[in-house]
Amino acid sequence: MPEISEREQWGSKLGFILAAAGSAIGLGSIWRFPYITGQYGGAAFVLVYTLLVFSIGISLMMAEIVIGRRGKLNAVGSFKALGGGAWSIVGWLGVIAAFIILSYYGVIGGWTIAYFIKSFTGLTSHSSSGQIAKTFEIFVSNAGSVIFYQVLFMAATIFVVYNGVGGGIERLCKICMPALFILMLILILRSVTLPGASKGLSFFLKPDFTKITGEVLLAALGQAFFSLSLGIGAMIIYGSYLPEDSNIPSSSAQICFLTLLISIMAGLIIFPSLFAFNMEPAAGAGLTFITLPVVFAKMPAGFLWSALFFVLFFFAALTSSVSLLEVVASYFIDNFGWKRSRATLVLGIIITIAGIPSALSQGAVPINLFGKSFLDAADFFASNLLMPLGGFFISLFLGWKIHNIAKEEINNLSENSFPLTKTWLFILQYIAPICIAIIFISGLRS
Ligand code: TRP
Repeated sequence: MPEISEREQWGSKLGFILAAAGSAIGLGSIWRFPYITGQYGGAAFVLVYTLLVFSIGISLMMAEIVIGRRGKLNAVGSFKALGGGAWSIVGWLGVIAAFIILSYYGVIGGWTIAYFIKSFTGLTSHSSSGQIAKTFEIFVSNAGSVIFYQVLFMAATIFVVYNGVGGGIERLCKICMPALFILMLILILRSVTLPGASKGLSFFLKPDFTKITGEVLLAALGQAFFSLSLGIGAMIIYGSYLPEDSNIPSSSAQICFLTLLISIMAGLIIFPSLFAFNMEPAAGAGLTFITLPVVFAKMPAGFLWSALFFVLFFFAALTSSVSLLEVVASYFIDNFGWKRSRATLVLGIIITIAGIPSALSQGAVPINLFGKSFLDAADFFASNLLMPLGGFFISLFLGWKIHNIAKEEINNLSENSFPLTKTWLFILQYIAPICIAIIFISGLRS
């Protein structure tokens, strides 16, 4: 086991927030959030999702960071160090979940590269939304090209993790996230001023409460976990690199706020234009990729906007995928003494291979499981089952097993103690486990 004092730390306080926000903000906000919102009926889903982010989500994020900063190891090791052997099963669950998520994350990450290149080869010169949707269908039916781009994306992910977690990610986030933010603001302006955009705005912002069912609740819970990178120990790892004098509640609040902001911004780009062009909100996993080019096509020099967007989207996805590979790799590094280079290469390649059925399942070869495409089934299993389950145990662990340590750890800044300590612990002891259990059961029943 490595010496605690040897563990590297984040370059700066901002570095941690950027890297953690970089892990959170990615395909989850820009690809998954709009398409799940479209499938589960719009504004009511958005409302439930927002409530979950600022109750269970933020509390669990603080819990994971506390566990990591105190345990100073990856999820499995931190659980073992703080709670004893049996708890490390929760960490294990996370390693498996990260493996599954990254397998299809790489597929969608590959799509962002492909669409960057397509920007220069006529993607935005199509005048009708039908043709742009067709471009997507043709692309995902071509086995060779989807796998090619998936491999490219995974190679980039492996490259970053191979070179260590600190510097690279921090630097990448510092440039790309503000750029992405500004570009998305411009795209919102374009989208909401399209004729017919208002129908999309009301779909996205005016809740119809009758649409809230157990299934919708579970989907919102899964999205909250997915988008905030919770439930599988990713934030435990990031916390383990965190210096003692960092303010965990305020960092967590900032990360949750930024993630929600980018998700809402993505919705404000996609839904107005979707309705302006009479497209289908429940189009599924391709939604972002068939809607955005339509917006770019309505802008002067559309191909440039398109290229710029997809390049930043790619980097946003990359800063998330590296945290997923880090969860799997750091387990092998900390527990089996593997070298970082070996862990990232071997595991990265295995995960890439495991992602091939997902890559093919979107059109090239009909691979289905439980009535869903392979990719959707893997996503459902990881986001709606494994991650909430992980969150359930993490909240119990912090709320009951180590609540004294947690109290100390969250209040270790002498100048300002955390005024909501009791509320936070109450949420983790009762609210989070009970809500997760109820949502879980009602969602799986419906
Ligand atoms: N949150 C990321 C996204 O929205 C995905 C992700 C990265 C993730 N690391 C994670 C999800 C750890 C769960 C756990 O794109």
